[in-house]
Amino acid sequence: MKHLSIILAAGLALALGGAARADEPIIIKFSHVVSPDAPKGKAAVLFKELAEKYTNGKVKVEVYPNSSLYKDKEELEALQLGSVQLLAPSISKFGPLGVKEFDVFDLPFLMTDDARARQMMASPMMDDLNKKLEAKGVSPLAYWDNGTHVYTANKPLIMPDDFRGMKMRIQGSKVLDAVARELGAIPQIMAFGDLYQALQTGVVDGEDNVPSNIWTQKFYEVQKYLTVSHHGRLTYALVTNKKFWDSLPPDVRTQLDRAVKESIDFFDDTAAKDNADALEQIKAGGKMEVHVQTDAEKKAWIAKLMPVHIEMQNRFGKDFIERIYKASGFVPPQS
Ligand code: LMR
Repeated sequence: MKHLSIILAAGLALALGGAARADEPIIIKFSHVVSPDAPKGKAAVLFKELAEKYTNGKVKVEVYPNSSLYKDKEELEALQLGSVQLLAPSISKFGPLGVKEFDVFDLPFLMTDDARARQMMASPMMDDLNKKLEAKGVSPLAYWDNGTHVYTANKPLIMPDDFRGMKMRIQGSKVLDAVARELGAIPQIMAFGDLYQALQTGVVDGEDNVPSNIWTQKFYEVQKYLTVSHHGRLTYALVTNKKFWDSLPPDVRTQLDRAVKESIDFFDDTAAKDNADALEQIKAGGKMEVHVQTDAEKKAWIAKLMPVHIEMQNRFGKDFIERIYKASGFVPPQS
């Protein structure tokens, strides 16, 4: 008798095309690579709470922080396969997805203005890029702004020549690769989860990141110098598997969209505060020497790195790059 009911249940589940039984919650696995205490860690938990509340428990969100489920590259593959339902990776890691246009957001000193950067990520300009992502089976639900990058290393990075011969960890974008090479450094793409150990053992000499990641991952234990350069930006895309999202019951999707919408302001405000606090905590900790880049130094870095902008003009076309400049407010130095 028991055996018959299990077969019937399995048959029923199959008949429902693998969908959860009507009384079971829809499981959403949310994988990410940072600490639960970092802005993305907090926003993932907020999303979980709102999604479960607004759907009255029709959805259950399982959050997997610190690369506990997947590392950087694997998580994008897992999303496309449908083994995980939500991610919030840096858009600098979208290269492997084959949407190379996202690389432009890594152009040095392009996205230093907070308000303009957020405007741009919310602007119709993103429609084309979002459609290209959807064509890869990945739906972007929102963009989360984690602020600007600083550099860390075991020697002071004040002028461009200080990078010569340094092994620098980068995220996967071709622009970040070109930036490192233009500075005379040796770029090494590496998963975020492997970075602390690589810095500790000297596999790499330095990296760039936002202060909240440097603080929550304790990079100050393995790096002595920090340069506040604001040369790049860490923008996350909250992404889902398109088939999964489109297959959700409409009432559930509406409530999840509501949770997504509320997560944007929460994230941006939390990130702005946490990154400012982290920089103060790093300074107060006394383990790192913090140098704030002067205007003259910034001018020298921009002049040094303009060839990367030119290279991208050749790759993406002058029109596209000029539209990006207009939206971001970046003004190339007059030659
Ligand atoms: C990095 O790889 O440095 C960051 O993108 C990690 C993260 O998700 O903040």
